[in-house]
Amino acid sequence: MRTLLRTHLRPMHAEDIPQVMDIERESFPTMWPQTAYKRELQNRAARYLVLVEDGGEPPDGADAGGGFWNALRRIVTPAEERGEHVLGFLGIWLMVGEAHIVTVAVRERVRRMGIGERLLIACIELAVDSDQEVVTLEVRKSNTAAQDLYIKYGFDRVGLRVRYYTDNQEDAVIMTTPDLTTPSYRRLFEGLRARHRDRYPDLWT
Ligand SMILES: CC(C)(COP(=O)(O)OP(=O)(O)OC[C@H]1O[C@@H](n2cnc3c(N)ncnc32)[C@H](O)[C@@H]1OP(=O)(O)O)[C@@H](O)C(=O)NCCC(=O)NCCS
Repeated sequence: MRTLLRTHLRPMHAEDIPQVMDIERESFPTMWPQTAYKRELQNRAARYLVLVEDGGEPPDGADAGGGFWNALRRIVTPAEERGEHVLGFLGIWLMVGEAHIVTVAVRERVRRMGIGERLLIACIELAVDSDQEVVTLEVRKSNTAAQDLYIKYGFDRVGLRVRYYTDNQEDAVIMTTPDLTTPSYRRLFEGLRARHRDRYPDLWT
C-alpha cells in the first residue's frame, strides 16, 4: 500500500477538471462532459470538494470563523502551481432541507485508505453548516462498497428507483441519513470522525 504525502481538502476549481475526469473514467461506466463540470462549478446550490496530495503549503483556517465552506474557499492557488494531485472528489447540491450527494469517487490506486470517508465527513459537515436536515443520494444496487460506506455513516436504504441507470438499466438504491441535528446522530458522527482522525492522521493535516 502506498503512503500519502501531505493532503488537504479544498473546493474544486476549473483547472482540477482534467484530473477529476481521470478519476471519473476509472470509477464510472459513463462520464460527464467537461462542460457539465464547468456548469456545476457555477451552480450556486452546488459544492464540489477535492482531496489533494500536495507539494505546497497546507491550508490554514479550515476551522476558522465564517463557516466551513468560506474557510475552504480561501485556498485559491491553482492546482498546477502547487504541484497538487487530486486523489478524490465529491459534489453535493444543497436543496431545501436536504443535501444531495451528486457524485463521489476516489482514485483507484488509493482506495481503502480513508479518502472516501474523509470526503463524506466533509460533506456532512457542509450539510450541517448550511442547516440541512439530511443527506441523501442514489447508488447502484450492485455498488456494495459505496453502500457500506454510507451505512457506516447511518444512512438507511429508503427506496428504489427502478432501472435508473440508463447504461445497464440497473436500479438505484435511495439512501438517506437520519436527521443530522438529533443528539443521537451527532454522537454517531462525532465518534466516527474522531476514529477516522486517529486512524488516518495524514488526511487531517
Ligand atoms: C466508494 C468509494 C468512494 C470509497 O472510497 P475509499 O476511499 O476507497 O473508501 P474508504 O477507505 O474511505 O472506506 C471507508 C468505508 O467505506 C466502506 N468501504 C469502502 N470500500 C469498500 C469495499 N471495497 N468493500 C467494502 N466496504 C468498503 C467501508 O465501510 C470502509 O470503512 P472501513 O475501512 O472501516 O471498513 C470508492 O470505492 C470509489 O471511488 N468507488 C468508485 C466510485 C463510486 O462507486 N462512487 C460512489 C457512487 S454513489
